[in-house]
Amino acid sequence: MSEQGATTKDRSAVRTLLRLWPYVRPVRARVGTAALVAVVASCLGLVIPLVLKWIVDGPVAGRDPGGVWWGALLVLALGVGEAVLFGLRRWLVARPLAGVEAAMRADLYRHLQRLPIAFHDRWPSGQLLSRATTDLSLIRMFLAFPLTFLFVNGVTVVVGCGLLLAQDWSLGLVLLVPVAPLIAVCSLFESRYSLVARRAQDQVGDVTTVVEESVLGIRVIKGFGRHRSQAEAFRALSERLRGTELGKARLLAGIWAVITIVPELAVGAALVLGTVQVADGGLSAGTLVAFLSTALALRWPVESIGFLLAMSQEAATSVERFFEVMDEAEEDAEEDAGGSGPVAGTPPGGLRFENVSFRYPDAPEGAPPVLAGVDLVVRPGETMALVGATGSGKTTLTALVPRLHEVTGGRILLDGVDVAAMSRKRLRELVSVAFEEPTLFSASVGENVLMGAGPGGAGEPELRRALEVAQAGFVRDLPQGAATQVGEQGLSLSGGQRQRLALARAVLGRPRFLVLDDPLSALDVHTEALVEAALRDVLRDTTALVVAHRPSTVMLADRVALLSAGRIAAVGTHQELLRDSPEYAWLMSGAESTDGAR
Ligand SMILES: Nc1ncnc2c1ncn2[C@@H]1O[C@H](COP(=O)(O)OP(=O)(O)O)[C@@H](O)[C@H]1O
Ligand SMILES: [Mg+2]
Repeated sequence: MSEQGATTKDRSAVRTLLRLWPYVRPVRARVGTAALVAVVASCLGLVIPLVLKWIVDGPVAGRDPGGVWWGALLVLALGVGEAVLFGLRRWLVARPLAGVEAAMRADLYRHLQRLPIAFHDRWPSGQLLSRATTDLSLIRMFLAFPLTFLFVNGVTVVVGCGLLLAQDWSLGLVLLVPVAPLIAVCSLFESRYSLVARRAQDQVGDVTTVVEESVLGIRVIKGFGRHRSQAEAFRALSERLRGTELGKARLLAGIWAVITIVPELAVGAALVLGTVQVADGGLSAGTLVAFLSTALALRWPVESIGFLLAMSQEAATSVERFFEVMDEAEEDAEEDAGGSGPVAGTPPGGLRFENVSFRYPDAPEGAPPVLAGVDLVVRPGETMALVGATGSGKTTLTALVPRLHEVTGGRILLDGVDVAAMSRKRLRELVSVAFEEPTLFSASVGENVLMGAGPGGAGEPELRRALEVAQAGFVRDLPQGAATQVGEQGLSLSGGQRQRLALARAVLGRPRFLVLDDPLSALDVHTEALVEAALRDVLRDTTALVVAHRPSTVMLADRVALLSAGRIAAVGTHQELLRDSPEYAWLMSGAESTDGAR
């Protein structure tokens, strides 16, 4: 994703930031009030020079100590008022903005869950992680600080300039001359900074990806002694990020220098001119004091503009990155797409693949489709084994049934109803799946299995039965039985134990259709035989498609289908296929050479 920044060069930061409005809308009253409070506070600070002018031209010139005291008290009161109001502003925005960040994060998370598998195949997880964390904090900081203060400081500068010109327009002009070049420099800075900011944030995502992969793949890294190469990859990315951050710092330092030095020079010039005027008697000493202290009071609002712009630019980049994910189309709605009745002209019942073809969206242009015209009927209550060489598309075919991917041609019918016309909710009720890679979540064993329950939920008896079918008796021997927590991804369990829990999850709800992608591959032959016997019991009234490699798993099935070159090459019983299909015989025998088999 790192290259995307360069292509979105001519975007407008303001337009991007405006996309936050739906999230800010609910808290607009508070944020607006806070901004007004801050404007009042900031302008109170500008009253102080006027009091100073009064003190110098009044009590000081008239040698009246009492008056000086009163003036000092007034200045103190103004200072305290300013501090209290700024405190009030912070209190006003803190809670609502934390709410905005939480709402955006919740939306992003919800959206990620609904994005199709194809999206997740394409996007590195680190990019998504960094968007859900770093970018959202940057956005919250922007709403809390630069958003308000660009406005507040802008107003303050305008009011302050008005005051300066009102006090002495010639001195005021001296101060205002540098404004035009400053604006030019700021806009140049802004466009440069936005590019670097985008690059830095993308690189944070890349670094996150490497860290995440290293942590998840720690076994492989240690097993293969790949610490060094992994560390090198990490170092290279960090170095790159460091370079980008340094570039950012250089830009900031440059703009900071310009924004600080230019007004400083202008104030110096005004001081010289003003002193000459006072000496000539054309200007009162109080006015010069007021003028210079107003100019000094404007230093912070002016100087802050550089980094406020920088923060806004970063926030705009974050908003862009946030919406890049949010703008991806979700899978279609959960509602029935209508027309979900049985399809006319086809015998109802069972699981049917009709001329199904599929190619991955990110497959290279000329590559042949993974599946091309698959026709297969699994009769109601039948168990069909799916056999094929590695890479023949077995996993892909099973993933099409629960619509983890959408077919690119043909259709898949469940009891005569096209899955594409079914709501996902209905589909999930009908079909249960277990994959070769069993995924467990950081939760108890029981909770992991109960995830397979339909909308009605499931209780203790169902859990016990499912564990029994999956031969997951080991659960009883865990420290807290089914209440035992399994670590992230279930890494505290063996591969076979994980597979059995995933299988238990799949059979828990006694689904009408069961799709198993090689769910027994990590089991020893004896456990496999026990699972098969128990599955036979469950599968009696379930229509099942089971990907299998070993003859012992294939025996479980009523019939076997051979997937080859993107289509079903043969269907029959194990014995029939052994006899009629050389490829099948070869796959089952584990022969070393394909010569003569094809
Ligand atoms: N997410 C994906 N994106 C692109 N191509 C894929 C993806 N997953 C699998 N493939 C390709 O599809 C083909 C079939 O893969 P798969 O269904 O996993 O085979 P099997 O399960 O039979 O071993 C392979 O050539 C594989 O490279
Ligand atoms: Mg597979």
